[in-house]
Amino acid sequence: MNISRSFLLIGSLYLLVGIGLGSHMGASGDHTLAPVHAHINLLGFVLMTLFGLAYRVMPAMGGGMLPKAHFWLHQAGSLVLLIGLFLMMGGMVAAESIGPVFPLAELSILAGVVCFLVNLWRHA
Ligand code: HEM
Ligand code: HEM
Repeated sequence: MNISRSFLLIGSLYLLVGIGLGSHMGASGDHTLAPVHAHINLLGFVLMTLFGLAYRVMPAMGGGMLPKAHFWLHQAGSLVLLIGLFLMMGGMVAAESIGPVFPLAELSILAGVVCFLVNLWRHA
């Protein structure tokens, strides 16, 4: 598995979704989902593109378990967080029922970033 390519491709998929939601908000005038749109673009596109470029520029970071752990922790955490936020802010799921899921998703993203940092420390 090529971590850099995977981060870059999935990041741009998030950009498509983020721009789609942004255009919908612009057209409808309903900006309720602005934080969801913002984080699809930022957590999805911006971070994943930066990660993808980092693994491309520093190939030494590509070996071992750290990049794989980072990739999957970031993917799982972001997907759960963003879908959860979409459902909650869109009024489809009550905050009380989805609320406990968010800290887990955030922890997953955070653990991924720790893997990235350790990897940077060793190889950058
Ligand atoms: C065609 C592309 C885009 C459209 C049509 C669009 C549209 C919008 C709209 C309508 C809002 C709500 C503004 C408000 O309520 O004040 C918004 C907010 C935001 N957008 Fe976009 N957007 C686009 C692309 C992007 C991209 C590429 C990013 C980041 C890389 C981004 C980041 C943000 C952020 C951070 C906010 C929240 C701003 C705030 O709450 O102050 N957007 N966007
Ligand atoms: C686990 C990751 C993250 C969590 C839990 C998180 C959480 C939050 C929360 C609770 C807000 C306030 C939203 C509101 O007032 O409606 C916010 C706003 C914001 N965050 Fe994040 N954030 C995360 C990652 C990021 C990243 C990676 C970026 C940038 C690369 C970012 C950029 C922003 C910006 C620009 C705003 C203001 C725009 C807005 O109000 O929608 N966040 N974030």
